[in-house]
Amino acid sequence: MRVQVNARNRAFHFEADNGEKILYAGLRAQAGLPYECATGTCGTCKAKLVEGAIDDHWPEAPGRKFIKPERGEFLMCQCAARSDLAIEVASFVYPADPGACRVGALTGTVGEVRPLTHDVAAVDVTLDAPCEFEAGQFMAVNAPGVRGLRGYSMVNFDQPARRLEFVVKKKPGGGFSEWLFSDRAAGARVELVGPLGKATFHPGLAKNILCIAGGSGIAGMMSILARAAAVNYFDRHKVWVFFGVRTLRDAFFLQELAAYPEAQITVALSEEDPPPNTSLRFERGLVHEVAKRQMAGKYRDVRAYLAGPPPAVEAAIRVLLLEAKLTADCIRYDKFS
Ligand SMILES: Cc1cc2nc3c(=O)[nH]c(=O)nc-3n(C[C@H](O)[C@H](O)[C@H](O)COP(=O)(O)OP(=O)(O)OC[C@H]3O[C@@H](n4cnc5c(N)ncnc54)[C@H](O)[C@@H]3O)c2cc1C
Ligand code: FES
Repeated sequence: MRVQVNARNRAFHFEADNGEKILYAGLRAQAGLPYECATGTCGTCKAKLVEGAIDDHWPEAPGRKFIKPERGEFLMCQCAARSDLAIEVASFVYPADPGACRVGALTGTVGEVRPLTHDVAAVDVTLDAPCEFEAGQFMAVNAPGVRGLRGYSMVNFDQPARRLEFVVKKKPGGGFSEWLFSDRAAGARVELVGPLGKATFHPGLAKNILCIAGGSGIAGMMSILARAAAVNYFDRHKVWVFFGVRTLRDAFFLQELAAYPEAQITVALSEEDPPPNTSLRFERGLVHEVAKRQMAGKYRDVRAYLAGPPPAVEAAIRVLLLEAKLTADCIRYDKFS
């Protein structure tokens, strides 16, 4: 099916496969369509149907609260073309940077699921064909028997990557995470779309880096640290990492984080006092509050990366905009909604 997207500045044309979500088809064709979660919750991928017919794969998507279906609005990340389409997007849309990693459909096999805490596990997916991604990006993943796709940030950084490492927090009753924690996951075949996301780190950034992560939000920060370490980025730039969890029992990757002594790493415990005699620095408090205390006066030339549950990310954004006076272009985030 042929899709024409009329954006504020120009038009794009691309082909969408049968059943392929319009957002993914557009990104695959290098059209920088608007999106954040890519999985139906944020409403950023809103578009208006001008001509043609679409299939909505998730009519109950939470992101639909941001659209007006009676005006022909729909979510590009949840709808596929049923015929040739003309659609409108209210924002400016630019072609992807020529050097950007190409978005595509991938397949792979799930490896062993390794518990990291009582409700967080690490898992590798071995891809059938290698892919390229930037540190900080995520994949939309579909598991057998689970409706829809879920976003998961890559923990590792390899170029190209044959293996993708993820950390997944178990959500009680959650479709994907319950599946992953079951005995059906290891060895299963999964479909992925990506790489996705704009919270990317490239060494050419040449700025100090501030990472604020809540829980499994540390995933993409590990990829950023791996990428930075590989090019001795710490020799020229400061890197701060704030990792927020409730208690020590909820913390993971502590040894892996301690392997970056050049970075200034703090684990924020929101519901417990810090343990004594640790190689990493611990503080008590919500992660955005701990970051605010420690970062006062240090925001010069900083790019911030935020990830984790939406309330944690939103609180950190407020600190960075209102207290630190960072401009929006210096803040990259993924809300794990
Ligand atoms: C950019 C991004 C990166 C993320 N990275 C991580 C990470 O590294 N680690 C981590 O633990 N979590 C991450 N998350 C959260 C993760 O995507 C899931 O929301 C979470 O694991 C819960 O999934 P679940 O299937 O267990 O719960 P569910 O409640 O079943 O599903 C949660 C999400 O899945 C999608 N969904 C649910 N049902 C449908 C359906 N019928 N059709 C289509 N879509 C549906 C929606 O996006 C929904 O919000 C990320 C989220 C985003 C947006
Ligand atoms: S990008 Fe489609 S709802 Fe978030």
